[in-house]
Amino acid sequence: MQHLIVATRNAHKTREIQQILGSEFAVCDLCAYPEISEMTESGGSFEENATLKAIAVSRKRPGLVIADDSGLEIEALGGAPGIYSARYASTNSTNIEKIDKLMEELVRAGAKKDARRARFRCVLALARNGQVLGVFEGIVAGRIADRPRGPHGFGYDPIFIPDGFEKTFAELPAEVKNNISHRARACRALSAELRAAATD
Ligand code: IMP
Repeated sequence: MQHLIVATRNAHKTREIQQILGSEFAVCDLCAYPEISEMTESGGSFEENATLKAIAVSRKRPGLVIADDSGLEIEALGGAPGIYSARYASTNSTNIEKIDKLMEELVRAGAKKDARRARFRCVLALARNGQVLGVFEGIVAGRIADRPRGPHGFGYDPIFIPDGFEKTFAELPAEVKNNISHRARACRALSAELRAAATD
Protein backbone atom coordinates (compact mmCIF):
# COMPACT_ATOMS: atom_id res chain seq x y z
CA MET A 1 0.00 0.00 0.00
CA GLN A 2 1.32 3.45 -0.93
CA HIS A 3 1.22 6.22 1.69
CA LEU A 4 0.27 9.73 0.64
CA ILE A 5 0.01 13.00 2.52
CA VAL A 6 -2.72 15.41 1.47
CA ALA A 7 -1.67 18.97 2.26
CA THR A 8 -4.95 20.01 3.87
CA ARG A 9 -6.82 20.04 7.16
CA ASN A 10 -10.15 19.81 5.37
CA ALA A 11 -11.38 16.35 6.38
CA HIS A 12 -13.97 16.38 3.57
CA LYS A 13 -11.29 16.76 0.90
CA THR A 14 -9.17 14.04 2.51
CA ARG A 15 -12.10 11.61 2.71
CA GLU A 16 -13.07 12.21 -0.89
CA ILE A 17 -9.50 11.76 -2.16
CA GLN A 18 -9.17 8.51 -0.17
CA GLN A 19 -12.49 7.21 -1.57
CA ILE A 20 -11.59 8.19 -5.13
CA LEU A 21 -8.05 6.74 -5.09
CA GLY A 22 -9.18 3.55 -3.36
CA SER A 23 -7.57 1.08 -1.00
CA GLU A 24 -4.32 0.87 -2.99
CA PHE A 25 -3.39 4.14 -1.25
CA ALA A 26 -3.38 5.13 2.43
CA VAL A 27 -4.10 8.83 2.65
CA CYS A 28 -3.45 11.03 5.68
CA ASP A 29 -3.64 14.79 6.01
CA LEU A 30 -2.05 17.58 8.04
CA CYS A 31 -4.17 16.77 11.10
CA ALA A 32 -1.53 14.06 11.64
CA TYR A 33 1.19 16.75 11.61
CA PRO A 34 0.12 19.57 13.96
CA GLU A 35 3.65 21.00 13.81
CA ILE A 36 3.12 22.00 10.16
CA SER A 37 1.58 25.46 10.24
CA GLU A 38 -1.33 26.72 8.09
CA MET A 39 -0.18 27.85 4.66
CA THR A 40 -1.36 31.15 3.22
CA GLU A 41 -2.81 30.68 -0.25
CA SER A 42 -0.96 33.62 -1.75
CA GLY A 43 -1.06 32.46 -5.38
CA GLY A 44 -3.19 34.04 -8.09
CA SER A 45 -4.57 30.77 -9.49
CA PHE A 46 -5.60 27.28 -8.39
CA GLU A 47 -2.41 25.96 -10.00
CA GLU A 48 -0.16 28.34 -8.07
CA ASN A 49 -1.87 27.67 -4.74
CA ALA A 50 -1.81 23.89 -5.19
CA THR A 51 1.87 24.03 -6.16
CA LEU A 52 2.80 26.29 -3.22
CA LYS A 53 1.07 23.97 -0.74
CA ALA A 54 2.56 20.77 -2.21
CA ILE A 55 6.10 22.16 -2.24
CA ALA A 56 5.86 23.58 1.30
CA VAL A 57 4.62 20.31 2.85
CA SER A 58 6.94 18.05 0.83
CA ARG A 59 9.92 20.04 2.13
CA LYS A 60 8.83 19.12 5.65
CA ARG A 61 7.74 15.50 5.19
CA PRO A 62 9.30 12.63 3.20
CA GLY A 63 7.26 10.75 0.61
CA LEU A 64 4.58 11.80 -1.83
CA VAL A 65 2.46 14.87 -1.10
CA ILE A 66 -0.71 15.92 -2.90
CA ALA A 67 -2.16 19.42 -2.56
CA ASP A 68 -5.73 20.21 -3.66
CA ASP A 69 -6.78 23.73 -4.52
CA SER A 70 -10.35 23.94 -5.66
CA GLY A 71 -13.41 26.14 -5.88
CA LEU A 72 -16.61 27.13 -7.58
CA GLU A 73 -16.67 29.44 -10.63
CA ILE A 74 -19.98 31.09 -11.52
CA GLU A 75 -20.41 32.52 -15.00
CA ALA A 76 -22.77 35.36 -14.01
CA LEU A 77 -20.28 36.47 -11.34
CA GLY A 78 -17.33 36.58 -13.73
CA GLY A 79 -15.85 33.36 -12.31
CA ALA A 80 -16.27 34.27 -8.61
CA PRO A 81 -15.78 33.02 -5.98
CA GLY A 82 -13.01 30.99 -7.75
CA ILE A 83 -9.79 30.83 -5.76
CA TYR A 84 -11.54 32.76 -2.96
CA SER A 85 -14.19 30.04 -2.48
CA ALA A 86 -12.99 29.14 1.02
CA ARG A 87 -12.85 32.81 2.07
CA TYR A 88 -15.99 34.14 0.36
CA ALA A 89 -18.10 36.40 2.67
CA SER A 90 -15.25 36.61 5.23
CA THR A 91 -12.21 34.61 6.28
CA ASN A 92 -14.05 32.54 8.88
CA SER A 93 -17.50 32.50 7.32
CA THR A 94 -19.59 29.35 7.63
CA ASN A 95 -20.77 27.43 4.58
CA ILE A 96 -24.28 28.85 5.09
CA GLU A 97 -22.95 32.43 5.15
CA LYS A 98 -20.93 31.81 1.97
CA ILE A 99 -23.93 30.32 0.19
CA ASP A 100 -26.19 33.19 1.36
CA LYS A 101 -23.73 35.78 0.06
CA LEU A 102 -23.43 33.96 -3.25
CA MET A 103 -27.21 33.79 -3.68
CA GLU A 104 -27.46 37.54 -2.92
CA GLU A 105 -24.74 38.31 -5.47
CA LEU A 106 -26.59 36.27 -8.10
CA VAL A 107 -29.79 38.26 -7.49
CA ARG A 108 -27.79 41.53 -7.59
CA ALA A 109 -26.17 40.46 -10.88
CA GLY A 110 -29.68 39.85 -12.29
CA ALA A 111 -28.79 36.23 -13.11
CA LYS A 112 -32.00 34.53 -14.23
CA LYS A 113 -32.77 31.21 -12.53
CA ASP A 114 -32.20 29.31 -15.78
CA ALA A 115 -28.91 31.10 -16.54
CA ARG A 116 -26.81 30.20 -13.57
CA ARG A 117 -24.03 28.23 -15.23
CA ALA A 118 -21.20 27.24 -12.94
CA ARG A 119 -18.35 24.79 -12.64
CA PHE A 120 -16.24 23.31 -9.91
CA ARG A 121 -12.50 23.19 -10.58
CA CYS A 122 -9.91 21.15 -8.74
CA VAL A 123 -6.17 21.35 -9.28
CA LEU A 124 -3.96 18.73 -7.67
CA ALA A 125 -0.21 19.19 -7.37
CA LEU A 126 1.97 16.15 -6.65
CA ALA A 127 5.35 16.79 -5.03
CA ARG A 128 8.22 15.03 -3.32
CA ASN A 129 11.22 16.57 -1.53
CA GLY A 130 10.21 20.07 -2.57
CA GLN A 131 9.95 19.17 -6.28
CA VAL A 132 6.68 19.22 -8.23
CA LEU A 133 6.15 15.96 -10.13
CA GLY A 134 2.97 17.03 -11.88
CA VAL A 135 -0.13 19.25 -11.83
CA PHE A 136 -3.56 17.82 -12.74
CA GLU A 137 -6.91 19.49 -13.28
CA GLY A 138 -10.51 18.31 -13.09
CA ILE A 139 -13.64 20.26 -13.96
CA VAL A 140 -17.33 19.44 -13.54
CA ALA A 141 -19.87 21.73 -15.22
CA GLY A 142 -23.35 22.42 -13.92
CA ARG A 143 -25.65 25.11 -12.60
CA ILE A 144 -26.60 26.81 -9.34
CA ALA A 145 -29.83 25.62 -7.70
CA ASP A 146 -32.65 28.00 -6.64
CA ARG A 147 -31.97 27.21 -3.00
CA PRO A 148 -29.62 24.97 -0.97
CA ARG A 149 -30.73 21.32 -0.90
CA GLY A 150 -29.35 18.11 0.57
CA PRO A 151 -27.48 16.88 3.65
CA HIS A 152 -24.30 15.39 2.17
CA GLY A 153 -20.91 16.75 1.16
CA PHE A 154 -19.46 20.12 2.16
CA GLY A 155 -18.91 23.70 1.04
CA TYR A 156 -21.06 24.65 -1.94
CA ASP A 157 -22.38 21.11 -2.56
CA PRO A 158 -25.98 22.07 -1.54
CA ILE A 159 -26.29 24.60 -4.40
CA PHE A 160 -24.43 22.85 -7.24
CA ILE A 161 -26.36 20.67 -9.72
CA PRO A 162 -23.98 18.81 -12.05
CA ASP A 163 -24.98 18.54 -15.72
CA GLY A 164 -27.04 15.43 -16.40
CA PHE A 165 -28.64 15.47 -12.93
CA GLU A 166 -31.55 17.24 -11.24
CA LYS A 167 -30.11 16.85 -7.74
CA THR A 168 -27.41 18.89 -6.02
CA PHE A 169 -24.10 17.31 -5.04
CA ALA A 170 -25.39 17.38 -1.44
CA GLU A 171 -28.46 15.32 -2.43
CA LEU A 172 -26.49 12.75 -4.44
CA PRO A 173 -24.82 9.80 -2.68
CA ALA A 174 -21.09 10.24 -2.07
CA GLU A 175 -20.31 7.45 -4.59
CA VAL A 176 -22.02 9.44 -7.35
CA LYS A 177 -20.26 12.72 -6.50
CA ASN A 178 -16.94 10.89 -6.19
CA ASN A 179 -17.38 9.39 -9.65
CA ILE A 180 -18.12 12.60 -11.55
CA SER A 181 -16.71 15.45 -9.47
CA HIS A 182 -13.92 17.87 -10.32
CA ARG A 183 -11.84 16.10 -7.63
CA ALA A 184 -12.56 12.66 -9.12
CA ARG A 185 -11.48 13.88 -12.56
CA ALA A 186 -8.29 15.45 -11.23
CA CYS A 187 -7.51 12.27 -9.22
CA ARG A 188 -7.97 10.13 -12.33
CA ALA A 189 -5.58 12.39 -14.23
CA LEU A 190 -3.12 12.12 -11.34
CA SER A 191 -3.29 8.37 -10.77
CA ALA A 192 -0.95 7.26 -13.59
CA GLU A 193 1.74 9.66 -12.34
CA LEU A 194 1.11 8.52 -8.81
CA ARG A 195 1.66 4.88 -9.72
CA ALA A 196 4.85 5.76 -11.62
CA ALA A 197 6.15 7.90 -8.74
CA ALA A 198 5.23 5.22 -6.20
CA THR A 199 7.56 2.71 -7.88
CA ASP A 200 10.54 5.15 -8.09
P1 IMP B 1 -9.22 25.67 -0.81
O1 IMP B 1 -8.95 24.72 -1.93
O2 IMP B 1 -8.72 25.20 0.51
O3 IMP B 1 -8.83 27.08 -1.14
O4 IMP B 1 -10.79 25.72 -0.55
C1 IMP B 1 -11.68 25.24 -1.45
C2 IMP B 1 -13.09 25.74 -1.11
O5 IMP B 1 -13.87 25.59 -2.30
C3 IMP B 1 -13.76 24.88 -0.06
O6 IMP B 1 -13.61 25.39 1.23
C4 IMP B 1 -15.21 24.89 -0.51
O7 IMP B 1 -15.85 26.06 -0.06
C5 IMP B 1 -15.08 24.97 -2.03
N1 IMP B 1 -15.05 23.62 -2.61
C6 IMP B 1 -14.00 22.96 -3.20
N2 IMP B 1 -14.35 21.73 -3.57
C7 IMP B 1 -15.64 21.58 -3.22
C8 IMP B 1 -16.54 20.50 -3.32
O8 IMP B 1 -16.24 19.39 -3.78
N3 IMP B 1 -17.77 20.75 -2.85
C9 IMP B 1 -18.17 21.93 -2.30
N4 IMP B 1 -17.36 22.96 -2.16
C10 IMP B 1 -16.09 22.79 -2.62
